[in-house]
Formats: sequence, C-alpha cells, structure tokens
Amino acid sequence: MFDKLFRTKKLDDIMAQAQDSEKGLKKSLGAFDLVLLGIGAIIGTGIFATVGTAALGDAERPGAGPAMMLSFVITSIACAFTALCYAEFAAMVPISGSAYTYSYATLGEMIAWIIGWDLIIEYAVGNVAVAISWAGYFNQLISGFGVQIPIWLSTNYTSVFLLPDPSSVEKYQAALAFKQQVVAAAPNIGGIPIIFNLPAVFIVLAITAILVVGIKESAWFNTVMVAIKIVILMFFVVVGAFYVKPENWQPFAPNGVSGILAGASVIFFAYIGFDAVSTVAEETKNPKRDMPIGIIGSLVICTFFYIIVAAVLTGMIPYQKLAEGAAEPLAIALKYNGLNVAAGVVAFGAVVANTAVLLVFQLGQPRIFFSMGRDGLLPPFFSKVHPKFKTPHVTTILTGIAVAATAAVSSIEMMVDLTNIGTLFAFILVCVGIIILRVKDPNRKRPFKAPFGLLFPILGILSCVLLISYLPLSSVKRFIIWLAVGLMVYLLYGIRHSKLNQQK
Ligand code: ALA
Repeated sequence: MFDKLFRTKKLDDIMAQAQDSEKGLKKSLGAFDLVLLGIGAIIGTGIFATVGTAALGDAERPGAGPAMMLSFVITSIACAFTALCYAEFAAMVPISGSAYTYSYATLGEMIAWIIGWDLIIEYAVGNVAVAISWAGYFNQLISGFGVQIPIWLSTNYTSVFLLPDPSSVEKYQAALAFKQQVVAAAPNIGGIPIIFNLPAVFIVLAITAILVVGIKESAWFNTVMVAIKIVILMFFVVVGAFYVKPENWQPFAPNGVSGILAGASVIFFAYIGFDAVSTVAEETKNPKRDMPIGIIGSLVICTFFYIIVAAVLTGMIPYQKLAEGAAEPLAIALKYNGLNVAAGVVAFGAVVANTAVLLVFQLGQPRIFFSMGRDGLLPPFFSKVHPKFKTPHVTTILTGIAVAATAAVSSIEMMVDLTNIGTLFAFILVCVGIIILRVKDPNRKRPFKAPFGLLFPILGILSCVLLISYLPLSSVKRFIIWLAVGLMVYLLYGIRHSKLNQQK
C-alpha cells in the first residue's frame, strides 16, 4: 500500500507515452504564441478588480494603501522563483499536465494526484472568479448603452442569501435590502426563486465551444485579445498620469509591512497564469527553448505593467475612495477625475482581458484532466482526443459545464482567496519537486536550469508559505477540506486503476 502511494513514473516513460503520435495532440505553438498565451492568462481580474481589496483591505485583512506598488514587487519576486522552477520542469518534461506530471515523476503518485486535484482549484475555481468578474464588467458595459439584464439573471445565490455579520449594521441592512429586491423580482418554481448569473454562464459556454474546435484557432483569438488589453492598460496609464497628485501617495503604507504583505497575497491572483503556459508543452514545436521564454517572458512583461498601473491608480485617487466599488477600481479612479468615457473604455478592456484569461484556463484544465485520465487516475473517457479536431473534447466540455454551473451561483471573493491558496500550494510542490529531482537524478539533461543551485527553489517555497500565511484562515480551512475529499477519491478509484499497476 505504502509503495503504491509513493510510486513514481519514470521520466523517460512519460516522454515516450507523449510521443505516441497516434494519441498525441497537434504540435502548433511557438515561443511567441507561448508569451502571448501567458499574458492572456495573467492580465485579467487581478489587475482590473482585486487591486481594490489589496489597497483597501477588508473585514479579514489590512490594506496596503499606495504601497500596493511594493506588494506587486514582492509578489512578482515570489512568482519569479517559482517561474524558474516551472521553466526548468517544462523544458525537461515537455508534457501536457503541468505540475501534475512533474510531481508524478518526482514526488510519487499520491502527491501527483493531490497536485492534479489542487490544480482544479487554480484553473477551474480561478475561472469561476474570472467569469463572475467578466459578467460584472459586461453588465456595466451594456448598461452604458441602455441595456439592462434583469437583476435575478445577473447575481447569484451566494451574494443574495449569505448575509454579512449583523454587527456591521450598515452592511447588513444593505445586504438585506438587496436580498429582498432580488427575491421580489425573481420568478419562482415550486416556491424556489430562480437566481443565477446568466452572462457568466454564457461566456464560459461560448469559450468552451471555441476550444473544442481547436488550439490554433484559440491561439489566434487569444493574440487579438492580448493586444487589446495591453493597449487598454497603456491607455489607463497615459490618461491617468495627467491626474496623478503626489499627495495621494501619502500616507504611503498606512498599515505597514502587514498591509503590504496582505496586499501581496490578494494581488497574487493577478500573477496566476504564467504557469498555465506549461500545460501546452505537448502542443509546442520546440518546448526546450520555447517553454522558458514563454513562462519567464510573460511574467516579466506583466510585472512591468502592473507596477506602473498601481502607481498611477494610487496617485489618481486617495486609496480610501476606492471603497465606493472595489470591484472596478480603475474605472472608479477615472470617474473620480471626471473621465467617464475613459472609464467606459477601461470597462471594455476588462471584459476583453477576462475573456482572454478564461480562454487560457479553460484550455489548461482539460489538459490536466487529460493527463490524469491517461495515467488511469481518472476514468478512461477523460483522455479521449477528438478524431477531427485533435483536442481533448470530453474534458473540455466537462470543465465548461462545471465552471459555468459554479459561476452561476457563486460570489467572487470566496473564489479568489480559494484560488490563491490552491495555486500557492501547487507552486510549493513544484519547487519541492525540482529539489528532489536535482538530488535523485542530477545527470538528467536540463535544457534550462534555474541558476545558483537550490537557492531559487528554496526561496520559492519560503515566499509562497509567507503569502499563504497572509490569506484568511477561512480559505485555508476550505482548501484543506477540498484536499481531504480529493484524497478519498484517490483511495477509492485512482490507486486501483492507475496504469502503474499494470506495469508491475
Ligand atoms: N491572473 C489572472 C487574472 O488576474 C488569473 O485574471
């Protein structure tokens, strides 16, 4: 039993399995495509929405204030350590499945399963948050043209029925009034009010359809959206720069170091995505060269934009004023300075940016399921490839339905925190995997190697632990429950059906 839990796949077997061209995925992506795919995954809800909470804080954490610029620097450094580890792994093991595959080769089957299960949080739950944010901005955008979606089709059960603590009287009463308004407007079936987030469901299903048809088409679609969102962020910076007042940067760090670190743990969401590049390794023409370029290149470019946006945002508006609607801080800062049309343009940019993020994560999740199905840890239909489109269509459709259904009924805050802890945990295991493999298999050819020995993997682990320690305890508890459920699924199914059983 113990042997089974820690059995590893041989890296050479993993590579051979992927080269089986009968079952293989189409190889069509180059380095430039990967950088674009990375930026497509990275810039989204994080910079357009979570910066409000990072600057202001909330009931469970202090805010960073204008020192959010430093939060971005801290998080980018933490991510860079892990990015180097991801790049080393992805160049060495250019296989669909990301951290899941790497840990199967190093840490053993049970940990690999846990990582695969954990990555569902990063990809699918993360996308639930992004779909909800997409829907919010979309509603805002169309309302500018006088179109209004009925309230019961643009909110969710969680936001309506989960009331805040009655001790904060004002918030509680506002939530109660909102609940009564939505319930009164919603139609009933058998006494149950029908309430769900229609735009969120729509966008997830539309993207699922695109991904079933094929990856090259999706990469093209992504390129256009990446170009638009970079232009929109530059637009924000250039327009906003004229309205920066240095006095808004005072006090710079109202809650000191703990505010800056709490901010860093929230805006971590803005960086998630560079690792998603590794999930398409099997569909990359020259993964050994292109993977490091794609992963590190996209991280560096996004960090540059984030720090400038944070500086301009906190210079344009006293950060306390972001309280009026933290879900759309960039638009609020523009409106605060009387720039209403510019705010509309940025809302459009947020819709596009979130669409691109959804695309990359909806692309990544099925490929992780695909790898787990191929290994026998999930039922065989998870590893089916479409005969004509050469895409993992079964898992793509399953992911689409699950994300759409969850986004229909969930609130964004819970999803962001849960995504952050799940992803940080996966990053830690990737860094641990690099250390183990350097010790266990020092002579393996490493086309890309993180420099300075084990320094960066160790710093990667420490910095992820630090960020986790600043996330709300409630999210940590939810995450532990999720892992426990995953472990049961493994013990009841995966351990018995693993392909490694047949090799003995
Ligand atoms: N980094 C991605 C975003 O901010 C997940 O939307």
